[in-house]
Amino acid sequence: MNIERVWAVWYSATGNTDKAVNTVAGELSAKLGLPLEQVNFTKPAEREKEYSFTEKDLVVMGTPTYAGKMPNKLLPDFQSRFHGNGALAVAIVTFGNRNYDNSLAELCAVLEGDRFHTVAAGAFVGQHAFTDELAYGRPGWSDQFEMKEFARRISVKVKSLTDTPAPVKVPGDPGAPYYIPMGTDGQPAKFLKAKPKTYLSRCTNCGACARLCPMGAIDPKNVSNVPGTCIKCQRCVRKCTKGAKYFDDEAFLSHVKMLEQNFAEPKDNEVFL
Ligand SMILES: Cc1cc2nc3c(=O)[nH]c(=O)nc-3n(C[C@H](O)[C@H](O)[C@H](O)COP(=O)(O)O)c2cc1C
Repeated sequence: MNIERVWAVWYSATGNTDKAVNTVAGELSAKLGLPLEQVNFTKPAEREKEYSFTEKDLVVMGTPTYAGKMPNKLLPDFQSRFHGNGALAVAIVTFGNRNYDNSLAELCAVLEGDRFHTVAAGAFVGQHAFTDELAYGRPGWSDQFEMKEFARRISVKVKSLTDTPAPVKVPGDPGAPYYIPMGTDGQPAKFLKAKPKTYLSRCTNCGACARLCPMGAIDPKNVSNVPGTCIKCQRCVRKCTKGAKYFDDEAFLSHVKMLEQNFAEPKDNEVFL
């Protein structure tokens, strides 16, 4: 098959998926000797555009795992904004050391539904957005080494293709329900309505959180006001240089503690091709 361009396409709130997708796509572009194009799908304005590909494109697309699946508020954008038109695709998810459950299967199904042909897929561990206690610093050096080896194997597969490949097989069920977050008491932790709070003594109202929020949920004129839908992605918490954003919702904090107590053992990356 005559591929002419490699694409990196990603949604990434705290940077892990950005790193995974760009490491794999960058290495693929180097190994295949092809130009690399990028689409950062994180900001609301980027998710309003349409992206059409052709059978000369190889698209590496990535998303984090939220509650065992793709982020539900972004799913319609992933389903409607991309037009594969026969392009090859590599599906990538990151997960915060609990489990990716059904997110990779869902992304593969979305890609096939968007008329891409999946050739490979990978689930990579990343520091949990909720806490530094899970997978701290990942993806790190050795994860990136594995990502590059994954890209090398994909380049070999792509070069050897003479016909449309069969969809890559991955574990999970795209139709499965979302993972229900639990608290330390073993009961469901209900924090759907939780929103970030602001330490007014630290906040300089610079507006970075409002500009960076993937949901456009924060009022740019008064950043302590969050009138929009918060998806708990932690981008504002992680990106604020003054450390002025935090969550104090009790159910949320109980879930984080439960994760720290039960999922600290380092998990492996998994690739399929
Ligand atoms: C709302 C939310 C839900 C999450 N759910 C899961 C999960 O079900 N399993 C898991 O292992 N990690 C989970 N995580 C952790 C993220 O998948 C992980 O931190 C990911 O690498 C973040 O990607 P990003 O840095 O590209 O935003 C969740 C994170 C958030 C913000």
